[in-house]
Amino acid sequence: MEKIFGFFDDANREYVITDPATPFPWINYLGNEDFFGLISNTAGGYDFYKDAKFRRITRYRYNGVPMDAGGRYFYIKDGDSVWNPGWKPCKTPLDSYECRHGMNYTRIAGSKDGVEASVLFFVPLKTWAEVQKLTLTNTTGKVKTLQLFSFAEWCLWNAATDMENFQRNWSTGEVEIENGNVIYHKTEYKERRNHYAYYALTNAKADGYDTDRETFIGLYNDFTNPQCVVAGKPGMSVAHGWSPIASHYVEVELQPGEHKDFVFVLGYAENEQEKKFSLPQPLQKEGGLITSLGTLDRTIINKEKAHEVIQRFASVEAVDAAFSELRQMWDGLLSKFTVASADERLNRMVNIWNQYQCMITFCFSRSASFFESGVGRGMGFRDSNQDLVGFVHQVPSRARQRIIDIASTQFPDGGCYHQYQPLTKRGNNDIGGGFNDDPCWLIFGTVAYIKETGDFSILDEMVPWDNQPGTEVTLFDHLRISFNHVVENLGPHALPLIGRADWNDCLNLNCFSWDPNESFQTTENNSEGSKAESLMIAGLFVLTGKQYVSLCKELAKRSVECINYQHEAARAQACIDAMVEAVKQHGWDGEWYLRAYDFYGNKIGSKENEEGKIFIESQGFCTMAGIGLEDGMVDKALDSCKRYLDCAHGMVLNHPAFTRYYVEMGEISSYPAGYKENAGIFCHNNPWVIIGETVARRGNDAWEHYTKICPAWIKDQSLHKVEPYVYCQMVAGKDAAKPGEGKNSWLTGTAAWNWLTITQYILGIRPTYEGLEIDPCIPSALSEYRVHRVLRDAEFDITVKNPDGRESGVRSIVVDGIPVQGNVITATPGHHTVEVAM
Ligand code: GLC
Ligand code: GLC
Repeated sequence: MEKIFGFFDDANREYVITDPATPFPWINYLGNEDFFGLISNTAGGYDFYKDAKFRRITRYRYNGVPMDAGGRYFYIKDGDSVWNPGWKPCKTPLDSYECRHGMNYTRIAGSKDGVEASVLFFVPLKTWAEVQKLTLTNTTGKVKTLQLFSFAEWCLWNAATDMENFQRNWSTGEVEIENGNVIYHKTEYKERRNHYAYYALTNAKADGYDTDRETFIGLYNDFTNPQCVVAGKPGMSVAHGWSPIASHYVEVELQPGEHKDFVFVLGYAENEQEKKFSLPQPLQKEGGLITSLGTLDRTIINKEKAHEVIQRFASVEAVDAAFSELRQMWDGLLSKFTVASADERLNRMVNIWNQYQCMITFCFSRSASFFESGVGRGMGFRDSNQDLVGFVHQVPSRARQRIIDIASTQFPDGGCYHQYQPLTKRGNNDIGGGFNDDPCWLIFGTVAYIKETGDFSILDEMVPWDNQPGTEVTLFDHLRISFNHVVENLGPHALPLIGRADWNDCLNLNCFSWDPNESFQTTENNSEGSKAESLMIAGLFVLTGKQYVSLCKELAKRSVECINYQHEAARAQACIDAMVEAVKQHGWDGEWYLRAYDFYGNKIGSKENEEGKIFIESQGFCTMAGIGLEDGMVDKALDSCKRYLDCAHGMVLNHPAFTRYYVEMGEISSYPAGYKENAGIFCHNNPWVIIGETVARRGNDAWEHYTKICPAWIKDQSLHKVEPYVYCQMVAGKDAAKPGEGKNSWLTGTAAWNWLTITQYILGIRPTYEGLEIDPCIPSALSEYRVHRVLRDAEFDITVKNPDGRESGVRSIVVDGIPVQGNVITATPGHHTVEVAM
């Protein structure tokens, strides 16, 4: 029997962890708009405001020993014993432990020697703060006298320099302390920063505090034995430089059976420039006129904003009310699409965890997880476009804003910065640029938004190039120019030039790097004279190009400029036809699609190659685009995926894995065989092949691939290692030392793509401009399922029946008792009952 560390509680939409020593920290995310926290099952992690690099609020040590050091810790001292509700950091054995990760909240409970401690962590809606409600209960028949210490360590704002610039950092730290109950972090506040952070105990009086780490912990102690906790006495320290922290000390007496709640608020505030400092005492003249503003103290924070939040959460009732608002928000978000089937694993992925992960990837792109340090990567151009497709049904208005933000970073020729910084929304080249797939993704994201909302007005929005005022053109123009970017960058086989790389950031065909000190992602490229072409972009172009054509046709129906749009549709269609021809001519290897041509025009991903004979990306995109479907190419390519790429844990990216370094391919061959882009199971591109399977109408095959990488089907939690409730970017492939071991959980396009796959292509409930297309492609064993889908002002209750065990095909659709022709149902406002027979 494999060891089990937790289980799903679907009724509460929680994953319940029962053993704190999970194979890796299993984390959750707090907050969903501006203020965020990462929290592990032992309360490790950190908070930040909007941007994990520039506005890091609390400190965290990545890659530390032990793993997962730094977090929000409560120390409970009961006589000689010191313990934490979440086991860490003291790791004192607990009598019971449970961590419940829910939708943007986590509840961690531990008990020891008749004391129960339960902490609820969440970020209330529209609030720039993490609220922690700690409940202490005495379950014994005797009076308990406990000493409680809270703990948070401030990050000096910039998470990057915080880890390296010690000659400055160790002198800049500053705090303020208000009645011992509120500890303010104000490093750099008196100069250019207009923001501060605070940690408050809101509903009780603190009996002491510490703000200096060395005093609280001791220079040669660690989180497991802070000297103040061990001594049972706060240090009342005031930090000057070094490492400022925030710790409250409370003496707690509990009668038999009694419980007490303590509310802590860890927040962030920004002040307007003219209101930065503490309010002066106005001098009053006779008659009540203000004569002078007095002297402003330009070192003391104006604390009004913190006070407001502290007041707002000064009672348990207020906290509970805010928590139920958060739960209600999630009730609403998750009610837009639900499935009911006989398979609870399917239901829990669709109804809860896949949607939740889509919200998280929408918020964070690839910036902050336990694998992404929050320092190196902001919001990716392609990443964010994909993420919003998984999220758009939840809060369409936020997806709309995201599309505008992303498009605003584009260059006038359609090229893109590969990422932008969430705080400034400006593009940067920190992780490279010139990826020739990037522009296509804007079409992908925008079309998904319009199909969800019916909001064509987004296309008229005026959007700048590279955020330069005065350069605005319509969003539609951005799409047109994105489409053209591919057309204007074709190589010798009339296939798309790859540029720096395509979706696979590690297939660096123009890089030729021999210098270990340069990054494959940003090093100078030799694209001049390059013949490197990508079949992945070819497939992506055909797929998104078709979307662009149907958008133009739709606009032709709706607009006075009908002729122009018809003309544009015809022009674009001709480019797509030419691309399809080029793929058939130069992109087919006999049993599968080639992957690319290299700098010199040699084939990559061909039976002629020694290693890397077949790659998944081009199989995924060319089958999704249906290239050569009528010639049997799609079926053959899918069969080849099964034969060469598939294994027990999913499909690997390429086969055979590269065993040596190929300078003409770059980073892909830098990884050991079976890991990451070198034949790892890159979960992100499994769904492409799965959608391809639905294009070929192979429901059983689609389902088999789907369940292999789906978290709800994971059996061996120790092997899988990372969280069993969300997708990870990569699972070690069949050539790896430990096939099946997961890495890089949470922030991956896998979430959005699997959401698309299961809802739109397997269950087959697909938004169109008109309404919903019903097109199931399911395992033949699935005899019935029901879907509740809200689309715009329409609400559908759809029952799909499959009595004959088919894999696809709709025989009849009855809407509100009336049979309809075809398989598209119109989104007329109101509630509709839909009966589908397969
Ligand atoms: C990572 C990146 C994504 C890239 C993929 C393949 O997941 O976020 O942009 O496409 O790796 O290299
Ligand atoms: C590395 C990773 C890849 C990621 C890229 C982004 O190359 O292997 O997955 O997309 O970095 O910078």
